[in-house]
Formats: sequence, C-alpha cells, structure tokens
Amino acid sequence: MDIIHRILKYSSKHIGKAVFAVICLMLNIGINLISPQISKIIVNDVIKGGLRDLLLPLLLLLLFASVIKAAVIYLRSRYFEQFSQDCLYDLRNHMYTHLQGLPYSFYDKNRVGELMSRMTGDLEGIRVFLAVGISTLLENAVYFIGTTAIVLTMNFELGIVTMAATPFIAWCAYRFNKIVKPVFSEIREQQAVLNTVTQENISGVRVVKAFAREAFEIRKFEKENLLNQEKNIEASRTWAKYFPIMDFLSSICLVAVIWYGGSMVAAGRIDLGTVVAFNGYLWMLIMPMNMLGWMINLAAQAITSGQRVFEILDTGSSIREKEDPYRPEECRGEVTFDHVSFAYRDQKILKDLNFHVSAGSTIAIMGATGSGKTSIINLIGRFYDVTSGSVKVDGVDVRDWSMQSLRSQLGIIMQETFLFSDTIEGNILYGNPGATREDVERAARIANAHEFIMEMPMGYETIIGERGMGLSGGQKQRIAIARAIVRNPRILIMDDCTSAVDMETEHEIQEALKEVMKNRTTFIIAHRVSSVRNADQIIIIDDGQIIEHGDHESLMEKRGRYYEMVKLQYKDIDTPEFQRQVI
Ligand SMILES: Nc1ncnc2c1ncn2[C@@H]1O[C@H](COP(=O)(O)OP(=O)(O)O)[C@@H](O)[C@H]1O
Ligand SMILES: [Mg+2]
Repeated sequence: MDIIHRILKYSSKHIGKAVFAVICLMLNIGINLISPQISKIIVNDVIKGGLRDLLLPLLLLLLFASVIKAAVIYLRSRYFEQFSQDCLYDLRNHMYTHLQGLPYSFYDKNRVGELMSRMTGDLEGIRVFLAVGISTLLENAVYFIGTTAIVLTMNFELGIVTMAATPFIAWCAYRFNKIVKPVFSEIREQQAVLNTVTQENISGVRVVKAFAREAFEIRKFEKENLLNQEKNIEASRTWAKYFPIMDFLSSICLVAVIWYGGSMVAAGRIDLGTVVAFNGYLWMLIMPMNMLGWMINLAAQAITSGQRVFEILDTGSSIREKEDPYRPEECRGEVTFDHVSFAYRDQKILKDLNFHVSAGSTIAIMGATGSGKTSIINLIGRFYDVTSGSVKVDGVDVRDWSMQSLRSQLGIIMQETFLFSDTIEGNILYGNPGATREDVERAARIANAHEFIMEMPMGYETIIGERGMGLSGGQKQRIAIARAIVRNPRILIMDDCTSAVDMETEHEIQEALKEVMKNRTTFIIAHRVSSVRNADQIIIIDDGQIIEHGDHESLMEKRGRYYEMVKLQYKDIDTPEFQRQVI
C-alpha cells in the first residue's frame, strides 16, 4: 500500500487530467447502469403493455446514450493514457537525475543491465498501472457497488440469488493474489538478470570472440532465458486455472438468475421486464469479480516495480555537500594529504598518507598495479570519502568544498578511457562546452591527436562509436588527454594516460604537456621513468603506503626501490655515457 501511495504521490502533479478521465469514466458507468432500466421499460410497457408510441423515443434515447458513451470511452482512455505518460516522464527524469547524483561507490555495486531494467521495464510497469490499473479498479468498484445496490432495491430476493456466487469469486481472487505476487517479483528480477547478461555480452563481445567463448555465452544466456521462461509459465499457469473457475462461477450465476427469476415470473411474483433487467445487470456484477484477479495482477506488478524503482530513489548519496560549502572565485591548486587512510567498505587500501603538493608543481606517483594509485587521485575530486585524515585543496578539506566548484578545477585523464558516441569534437568539448574550435584544435595538438584526427575522412566531425570504437587505444587516450586540456583546469590528473601509446608518441606528448603543466598542479601516474623524472616530487606507493618520497636525484641517491626501477628500465642500455646521463 505504501508503494502504491508513493506512486500516486508522484502523479499528484497531473491530477487534473486524471480527474477529467475519472469523470468520463463515471459517465460511462452511469450510462451502462441506466441502460437495463430502459430495456425493462421496453419489455414491460412497450412489448407487454402495448404502449407502442414509447418505442421510438426510448430507442432514440438508447441511441443517444450510445453516442455519449462512445465519446466518453474515447476521452477516458485518452486522458488516462496522457496522465500515465506524464507521470512516467516525471518519474523517469527524476530517476535519471537521481542516478547522476549517486557516487562511484553506488556504481561499484550495481550492474548496468540491472539499472537499465529499472529505468525501462519497471517504470513501464508503473505506467501501465496508472494508465489501466487505476481506471479498471475504480470502474469495477463502482460497477460492483452500483449494481449491488440496484439489484437489491429492484428485487431483494432475486438480488440475493444473483449475488450468491460472489463470495466464492472473491475468495478465488484472493488465493490467486497470494500465489502470483511472489512470482512477479521473481519475474522482474529475472528480467534484470537477462538484461545484465545481454548487456555484458554485447559490451564484451570482442573478448568473447577473442577467446572463442560464444558457445559458453550462449549456454549462459540460455540458462537465464530458460529460468525467465519457467517463471513466466509458472505465472501463466496460475492464470490458466483462474479463468475457467471464474467463468464457471459466472455461468452458475446466470443459470441461477434465469431459473429463479423464471419461476418467480411463472408464479406471478415479478414482472418479465425485471428479470430481463437483472440479466443485463448480471455481467456488471460478474465482470468486476472476473477482473479482480487481473487488477490484482496489475497492482502486484506495479508494487514490485515500484519497490525496485524506489529502492534506487531512496539510495542517498553517501557523499554529500555540507550546507553553505566553500565556493571560491579562484583556486590556486594546492593539494595536501594529511594522515589519509581509505578503505572500500572493509578492505583497507590507503594507510596514513602524508604529502603536500604546492600550487603549480608536479607530483608523480609510482607503484605496482593494485598498490592504490588510482585510489589516491579518486580522493582529490571526492569521488570517495576518506576513512580518516583529510584531503585538502587550497587548505580546505574537500568535504567542505562545493562539489561542483571542486570538480570544475580538475582535469582528469582516467586510466580507462571512456568516450561517448559523438563526434571527436563533441568528445573533446565535453571537457569544456564553452571552448572554441581553436581551443579544441590546440588541445588536440598538445595531446598529439590533431594529425590523426585530420587524417580521418570527416576530421573533427568524425563520429566515433560507443566507447570510442573505431579508434585505437592510443588514439582514444589522446582524445581523452585533449578533453582534459581543453578544460584548462587548475589541477591536471593523469592516471597512466599514456600507457597505450608508443614510446615516441609518449615522449612527444610529454614535451607538449610541459607547456600545459606550467602553472598547473599536476599529478602524473606513470610507469616509465622518462615520464616522471622531471616531476618536483615523486612518491613510490607500495600496498597503500608511501615507501619512498623525494625528487629524481634524491631517490637515485637513496638506491632504493626507485633506483631499482630505473636500473631495470635502462638495463639494456649500458653505455657509460647514457648511464651517467640518466643515473
Ligand atoms: N571500486 C573498488 N571497490 C573495491 N576495491 C577496489 C575498487 N577499486 C580498487 N579496489 C582495490 O583497491 C586496491 C588499489 O586499487 P587501485 O587504486 O586501482 O590501484 P592502482 O591504481 O595502483 O593499480 C586494489 O587492491 C583493488 O583491488
Ligand atoms: Mg590505477
């Protein structure tokens, strides 16, 4: 009930359309409830009573009622549909907006296919309930109450006989609900699983083919698909039992009315017209009963879907701005890690990190994969919150910053490049929508991307596929670099961003970046010594701890881990001349 209540709360904005639709619905029901009374008059007064003159006006009245009915039926479905579409639009926008506000940690836990199925199938389930469920529910409730009142006042005795089967029908519907509701939850969950499998398969199709695992993938899908089928069949089996029972009970009602009514007419206790009218009312009584199961079905689906949608809407962001956050006019770009520790849930990753990067200087972070480099830089933009200690930008804790202000100071080139299916220019402009074409080209030149872009048939207008398909890994990285440069950030963060380009290109990019890095605080995560040796300070991370800290010269003198790395990288070049230069 709580879920239904919340769904209805979302729709209160569009209540006007719903009210109009309900008015049309009531007119429709009213006409249907009056029609048997006209039949009764025709039978009693015209056919049996011989009042021929009444026939034409009564028929005209019936005809008029039909025309009005046609109009209100049209308006009713149109407005209910419109109402539900409006609500869907709001709810979907709300959900999308909400998803934008959720932190990295939410996306660590939730799979794309699952979220997609909530954004589509579940929202549609709610819409169908608003479009059809509510109107049917209202319609049938009014029919049932209206008809019961009419038949009981027309003839109490025959009325009771007519209604005799209704408790059985209600009981059946209740049983049906108990069985079918859990099945619906399972169906929705299974559909989400199917979505996830499909989405992962399509995203990872190149890996699938590279490892020739198509057969495995097909089996995996078939298994889930089969489960989905079984769950749906289970639900439809319940359905299949429900309808014959309902139909049987309805038929009994019909037989009872004709038999009992007929004998009453024969005994002269009732007129024929009343029995005819009863016959007309019978289906208005039975239909709501029959529909009960179907309505329960719709409501059960809406509740299941509602739960899944609200679960996301209720997920608050663990990363929240404080009231009246820090929003400076200018940012210097000074970064301080003060006794920072960090864990993903329970897994401790970073342990008591301390370092200071003065504005405009360059820091390089080196360390084995999994040592925690990416985790460090994720803390600067407050994509995760520290477990203890503090990360400060310009001396202000990042938790006190306005997130928008803080992140607008950052130009991040991530380890895994993600590009949108847009033109190359569009992708670079993503970093700074206000940039001009010259800015874009300048950034592309620095990133060593301009030349290969110009070689493409449409140049900057070339549309690249999803996630940058159609470009090589190195080309994608270079576009990502341009995207960060065009942003003109105070703090530039490069997470292993030249891993996919060759040495020579890397060297060229590094040379060009020197210009960009001037007056900007820069974080470089890299494995090649050539990329880090000019940094103002270098920190070596091992298992989430700083094990060495200094500049190239001091670390070389120390003859520790850094020295070993340098030696390893230059081991084949053993001319004394070269050794002296590098070491
Ligand atoms: N989103 C995450 N959830 C849980 N653990 C993570 C997540 N990202 C990284 N880790 C773990 O944190 C450790 C450090 O990862 P990361 O900072 O990415 O290392 P690096 O960038 O140095 O390769 C690894 O052990 C990794 O398994
Ligand atoms: Mg990393």
